Amino acid sequence: MSRTIIALDFSTREQVISFLKQFDEPVYVKIGMELTYACGLEMVREVKGMGHKIFLDLKLHDIPNTVKGGMKNLAALGVDIVNCHCGGGIEMMKAAKQGLIEGTPEGQEVPKLIGVTILTSTSQEAMNNELGIPGAVLDTVVHYAKNAKEAGLDGVVCSVLEARAIHEACGDDFLTVTPGIRLAGGSVDDQKRVATPELARKQGCDMIVVGRSITKAENPAETYRMIEKEISDGRI
Ligand code: C5P
Repeated sequence: MSRTIIALDFSTREQVISFLKQFDEPVYVKIGMELTYACGLEMVREVKGMGHKIFLDLKLHDIPNTVKGGMKNLAALGVDIVNCHCGGGIEMMKAAKQGLIEGTPEGQEVPKLIGVTILTSTSQEAMNNELGIPGAVLDTVVHYAKNAKEAGLDGVVCSVLEARAIHEACGDDFLTVTPGIRLAGGSVDDQKRVATPELARKQGCDMIVVGRSITKAENPAETYRMIEKEISDGRI
């Protein structure tokens, strides 16, 4: 299975279709709020119909009852991974999971549920001074991951730099999905806690999320293949 999830951060259906045409086989894609708010959930159904696997990244964060209802409706779409913010607390995460179970049509697999820990665009300084969370980012991320595990989630979204500590605290089969991936020498953009695909492999990350490094590349399909190789077996 592909370990690289391509973030389809586009605003039109045309951009998505022409981007995906460059790939010969089905890939794992991430559909987030930019595309969903522009094209609606119809886009999810269309991309799924093309055979691609989907991580629907809508990062739910609300009172437990509302998150449960939202997840129930997302489960009906037949996506592979969905997420919610760990910051919503254990009761909210449990409700999210319950909503997914209730909303999954008979005979289909329940989508994997992962929790967003501390965004990879958040620095330690911003976490301390703006969010009011003291201490090191690593400690908060591991604390959130333990909460997610207790709530029955399948894994978390974290930076490459935290994946090893999360596996140590929550077990090897607890998924670590890591954005903030940049190719050596590439532009960091708005991300703060970044790493290369090679470091992701060394740190034991299960899956990496790559957006601009692929979507803005001169040859996205070739860049994707190169990254997939780097994360999977270390040979480029
Ligand atoms: O372009 P880039 O590779 O930075 O895109 C990263 C993607 O991963 C974006 O779609 C962003 O929303 C998402 N993401 C993230 N950090 C998180 C969770 C999701 O960057 N903690």
